[in-house]
Amino acid sequence: MNSFYYYNPTKLVFGKDSVSKMGNYIPKDVKKILLHYGKDSIKRSGLYDEVIEILKNNKIEVIELSGVEPNPKVSLVREGVKICKDNNIDFILAVGGGSVIDSAKAISAGVYYEKDVWELFTEGIELKRALPLGVILTLPATGSESSSATIVTNEETLQKLGLESDLLRPKFALLNPELTLTLPNKQTFAGIVDILSHVMERYFTNTTDVELTDNLCEGTMRAVISNAYKLLDNPNDYGARAEIMLSGTIAHSGILGLGREEDWASHRIGHEITALYGTTHGVTLSIVLPAWMKYVYKENIDRFVRFAKFVFHVDSNDKTNEEIALLGIEKFEGFLKDIKIPIRLKEEGIPYDDFNTMAEKCTGSGSIGRFVKLSKEDVVKILEMAK
Ligand code: NZQ
Ligand code: ZN
Repeated sequence: MNSFYYYNPTKLVFGKDSVSKMGNYIPKDVKKILLHYGKDSIKRSGLYDEVIEILKNNKIEVIELSGVEPNPKVSLVREGVKICKDNNIDFILAVGGGSVIDSAKAISAGVYYEKDVWELFTEGIELKRALPLGVILTLPATGSESSSATIVTNEETLQKLGLESDLLRPKFALLNPELTLTLPNKQTFAGIVDILSHVMERYFTNTTDVELTDNLCEGTMRAVISNAYKLLDNPNDYGARAEIMLSGTIAHSGILGLGREEDWASHRIGHEITALYGTTHGVTLSIVLPAWMKYVYKENIDRFVRFAKFVFHVDSNDKTNEEIALLGIEKFEGFLKDIKIPIRLKEEGIPYDDFNTMAEKCTGSGSIGRFVKLSKEDVVKILEMAK
C-alpha cells in the first residue's frame, strides 16, 4: 500500500427530504448566490421552484446562469466568472448533473484568478483560492458532487481538460434519489458505466497489499451491476436508484483509490472522443474500457482473474488463468450489451480517420495510464480494437 493524503470535506445529505434541508448547509454569511443549471430538466421536475423558494426564505439574493451543456464549455464558464466578479457573488449553487457541477467548479476556480480561467486547465497552475460551492445532484454518474476535479471543454481548440484541487470539493452535496426518476434511460445507464469506470480506473493497479480497497471496489462494482439490472426491470425502483446514487458518490470520492496507484488512461482516451465528436462521457467509456482490457490484461493477469471471479462470479474450475481473465472481460461486455449502451465506435457513428489525432492529443510527447503505460501507438491500437 502506498502512502497517501486524503481530505474530503463535502457534507453528504442523502434522502427524499435532503433538498428541503438546504438552508442548514449554506454558510450563514452568504448573501448572494449564483444559481447554475443546465437546460430545462430542473424546471420540468419542479426542483427549480423548490430551490428558489428555499433561497427566498433564507433571504439570499439569487443571480441565475443557466444553459450548461453536456460536456461544459469554457465560454459559459468565462461568463459565470464575470457575473460572480461583477456582482460580488459569495457562493455558487450547482443544480444538475456532472456538467453543471463541473462548470460551477470552473467558475469558482476562475473568480480569484486574475487571468483567463482556461489557463488554469492548460498551465498546471496550483489553485490558491476558490469561491465555495454547493450541489444538488440530479444525475448519478461523475461523482463530481464530492470529487476534487472539474473537466471542461474549450470549443475553439477542441480540448477537453481537467483541473484538480481539494478547494473544488463542494461544501455540501444534496442527494435525493427521487430526482433521478426523470432521467432518460440512456443517461441512467451511461451514468452507471461512468460509475463502474471510476472504480475500474482504481481497481486495475499493480500496487500490492491493497486487500481492503480491492474488496471495497469489488463490492461497489457488484452493487452497481445488480442494481443496474433492477433498473432495467423497473426504472422507478427507488431502492435501486438510491443504491446507484450512493455508489456514484463513493466511486469517485477518492476512498476507493486510497494507497493505490490509479490508471485513468481510458478516461483520457474517452475525453478525446468527446472533444472531437461530443460523445456522452459514459458511452466513451463503454467503448474504450473493453478494448483497453483486451489490450492490457496479459500485463497482470492475476488482477483480471480476480476481477472475473469476484465481480462477475466466473467459475474458475478447469480453466487456465487466461481463460478466466477473458471470460471476465466477456461478462463485462455482456453487461454493457444488456443495459443497451454502445460498446463499439461504429454504433455511435464515430469515424475511424482521427485515431492518430486523438492518440497524439492525449499522450502528447509522453504516455498515459499507470497499470500499463500507453504510448501514442498503443492508444491507436486500442481505438482500432474499439471499431
Ligand atoms: O441540461 P439539463 O436539462 O439539466 O439536462 C441534462 C443533460 O442534458 C440531463 N439531466 C440531468 N439530470 C436529469 C436530466 N434529465 C432528466 N432528469 C434528470 N434528473 O442529462 C443530460 C446530461 O447531463 P450531464 O451533466 O452532462 O451528465 P453527467 O452527469 O454524466 O456529466 C458528464 C460530464 O462530467 C464530466 C464528464 O467528462 C462530462 O463532461 N466528468 C466529471 C468528473 C469530475 N468532475 O470528477 C469525472 C468524470 O469522470 C467525468 O469526466
Ligand atoms: Zn468518468
